[in-house]
Amino acid sequence: MSATGLPSPTSPDARGVRRVLFVCLGNICRSPLAQGVFEHLAQERGVRAEFTVASRGTGDWHVGRPPDPRAIAVAQRHGVRLNSTARLINPAADAADFELILGMDRRNVASLIAAGFPAERVGLYLGYLARRQPGTPSDVPDPYYGGDDDFLEAYRLIHAGAHALLEEMLREP
Ligand code: 4NP
Repeated sequence: MSATGLPSPTSPDARGVRRVLFVCLGNICRSPLAQGVFEHLAQERGVRAEFTVASRGTGDWHVGRPPDPRAIAVAQRHGVRLNSTARLINPAADAADFELILGMDRRNVASLIAAGFPAERVGLYLGYLARRQPGTPSDVPDPYYGGDDDFLEAYRLIHAGAHALLEEMLREP
């Protein structure tokens, strides 16, 4: 257990996985960034067509909206386009469509498991980076109530996390 009272979940084996869903609270900041950055890195590697990638939120406040303008801006400054529309998780449909479901923080992971997603396919987004870089935080901090610095920090963590995840997915199972 951690200071938040939430356990630190492990992240499932991602080798060979090709369908991945990123989940945060509002689906307008962190998980759209994860989706956009992952797609961008996969495109650069020439493997974009192999992957099915999407994002969702555990809360419904922003359903139908584009990503937060601050998330769009920080991505754009790094040459990454965000093109998601906020959607709520749908445990039955999403578990059928995606092999791996990654929460951007421990609260998201707890919500996913409470909502009925199969726990063995749910994990923490930064878990793959943490395996390569000890000291990696468990959570991508929610930048929504923060400023531009918080969006930049979230972007950097998300970029490093996406790189580690993609490398793991591209390894042979
Ligand atoms: P996200 O950020 O989970 O990274 O998309 C948030 C966006 C909106 C809210 C909370 C977090 N909200 O409370 O509206």
